[in-house]
Amino acid sequence: MQLVIRNGRLAVPGGVPEGLVDVLIEDGRFVAVERAGVRVGDLEQEIDVCGAMLSPPYVEPHVHMDTCLTAGEPRWNESGTLWEGIACWSERKAMLTHDDVVTRVNEVLRWQVANGVLHVRSHVDTTDPSLVALDALIDVRGRVRDVVNLQLVAFPQEGIVSFPDGDKLIAEAARRGVDAIGAIPHFEDTRDDGVRSLEIAVSTALDAGLLIDVHCDEIDDEQSRFVEVLATHAMRTGLRGRVTASHTTAMGSYNAAYSYKLQRILSRAGINLVCNPMVNLHLQGRFDAYPKRRGLTQVKEMLGAGVNVAFGHDDVMDPWFPMGTANPLQVAHVGALATQMTSPAQIAECFAMVTTRGAEALSLGDSYGIAVGRPASFIVLPATDPFDAVRRQVRPWYVIAHGRVVAETPPTAATLTWPGQAAAKIDFVRDRDVSQATWPR
Ligand code: FE2
Repeated sequence: MQLVIRNGRLAVPGGVPEGLVDVLIEDGRFVAVERAGVRVGDLEQEIDVCGAMLSPPYVEPHVHMDTCLTAGEPRWNESGTLWEGIACWSERKAMLTHDDVVTRVNEVLRWQVANGVLHVRSHVDTTDPSLVALDALIDVRGRVRDVVNLQLVAFPQEGIVSFPDGDKLIAEAARRGVDAIGAIPHFEDTRDDGVRSLEIAVSTALDAGLLIDVHCDEIDDEQSRFVEVLATHAMRTGLRGRVTASHTTAMGSYNAAYSYKLQRILSRAGINLVCNPMVNLHLQGRFDAYPKRRGLTQVKEMLGAGVNVAFGHDDVMDPWFPMGTANPLQVAHVGALATQMTSPAQIAECFAMVTTRGAEALSLGDSYGIAVGRPASFIVLPATDPFDAVRRQVRPWYVIAHGRVVAETPPTAATLTWPGQAAAKIDFVRDRDVSQATWPR
């Protein structure tokens, strides 16, 4: 099976790349990425993308697929706090069935793939002795493998030490086949319990040879400092980049002296951070009077210190977040504003945080990227470069998974009528600025 994508433009963070390329695919892998027009001849399928941007697919490094599409069931989270969200979910959790989970997860996975996401890391609540959601997600993971790579994290939503048999439940999840072990140290009853929960999570992951992804310091408490404990484990065990600290919203409240010390610890440890700007802008600062804190990871500063940071969506219409479209480009846009990463290079970096930096957090290695020999999974965006894609929030024209077109959204082309001019079509692929194309001067 052959496919050639003609006249693409490779995404280069921070600038418009030179020249058009053709990408040749055989049996689901890239076999050539070369100057456009070099190769002619009979190929089974050809698509001319007219100068559109080629990018590795979006990576969703942090989402809760088991809870998606449950907002308002059995009641709405009226306070908008993390804590009421956990209480609502605890009630909804008692109603879970295998089919309920599979149906909701399939729906949101379809949204993600249509949006260009081909790698997803989903946390799955293991503080449920039935582990019904985990079994359902493992079932879905196998069924969608040819399209989307789904990583599962055993996530003890109500604690490892503070929940009855929380340690046994993550060990059982490891036995059933998760990809990573999680924890939630700031939710444990005491600081010592939080530290102990990290010891249990790390030793469980080491025993089973799994990755680690911890919900870490998701609270506006400047005293919540579990990320230094997790990073130290990552350093001393040698796990390093196989460890991720997610949310880390307490960082938004750390003083400058501690922040400096923490940058040094995290960069030495080589761990990843995942910031979830949409959901944490919504959840954090709820106990503040004015001025209200943003409650986000120190993204710009940590990137500056050499720490890998990715952006995640976190929740899609569930007790913690009533909205969401499963679109990483929306996350990148909100993230750019929320973290004040708004120079051209920083906006392009926000695109990297939903693509290449997410891939690094998920330890995807050579299974990710547009290069000869790698799986031919990528997206075609009607944009000139990553900055342009984030600014205009374009939908992927084509989503290609293992050499097969799995989603197609033709670029929108509005027809404008303007006084004194004939109706004109806007070309969203080629024109960076719509006004240059058709607006009266
Ligand atoms: Fe989360």
